[in-house]
Amino acid sequence: MVVVKTIKELKDLLNSFGENRKVGFVPTMGALHAGHVSLIERCVNENEVSVVSIFVNPTQFNDKKDLEKYPRTLDADCKLLEGKGVDIIFAPAVEEMYPEEDKRVFDFSPLDKVMEGKCRPGHFNGVAQIVSKLFDAVNPDRAYFGEKDFQQVAIIKEMVHQLRYDIEIKACPIKREDDGLALSSRNSLLSPEERSQAVNISKALFASKKYADTHTVDETKSYVESLIAESPLLKTEYFTIVDGDTLQDIKNWEDTDFAVGCIAVFCGNIRLIDNIKYKE
Ligand code: PAJ
Repeated sequence: MVVVKTIKELKDLLNSFGENRKVGFVPTMGALHAGHVSLIERCVNENEVSVVSIFVNPTQFNDKKDLEKYPRTLDADCKLLEGKGVDIIFAPAVEEMYPEEDKRVFDFSPLDKVMEGKCRPGHFNGVAQIVSKLFDAVNPDRAYFGEKDFQQVAIIKEMVHQLRYDIEIKACPIKREDDGLALSSRNSLLSPEERSQAVNISKALFASKKYADTHTVDETKSYVESLIAESPLLKTEYFTIVDGDTLQDIKNWEDTDFAVGCIAVFCGNIRLIDNIKYKE
């Protein structure tokens, strides 16, 4: 496993592996946990060369404070990946990825007009900026993304389509703590009290899956919101049930074969997201 900081070093190293080798790529912002590791293990299993990027991308943070407090743990991240079969860790500085301002504006409408796109203006534009730059640098055959960020997967697939990348996007299932909380780099920022209430997000989603069998979409939404409201430190920003492909709200379960409930919740000051599939 080699850690490189520049695109030139990355490309030279990739060339040294020779052609005709399948390259798998896992983009991350570091503070790696078992969720990231699940993507990385799958990537290593399915490809001859595996690249992991670790880069806290400033352009996708619409909140400056969120960017400042985002955990940065490069040494621990590299240690965690030792022996896991990763060939290259690409950990560039901000100036390497943005030698000048990236002025590109993407249009992913209507996918980016809802949920995270609506609550975090510019977020997906920043994600598309960095992921396209990383795709250009790594030139992978396959790239791995987690369904924890359900909307991000849809946006990346649309970006690949629009920019005509020849890259297979692999969506990987959510990894959870034993108690159900979806793993997230942000979980390390939770106080013990917040952590103990954060679990109620996934508990509400799991409970709603059963509830949904005998209730309408609207009733299920209200049910989740009321369960979350029982925890004083939790504040729901949105909970919505969408068609998993179009990401648009559904009114009735019959509207789609792929129904997903997506939630964003503030736990104290920490913003957490999660989702659950009702129909697939
Ligand atoms: P980051 O939040 O570090 O996540 C990197 C990848 O790990 C994403 O594809 C994310 O969905 C996945 N992931 C995170 N938690 C997960 C979990 N509990 N289970 C399964 N997968 C999980 O997402 C980003 O970084 C950035 O937006 C990035 C794509 C790197 C662009 O900057």
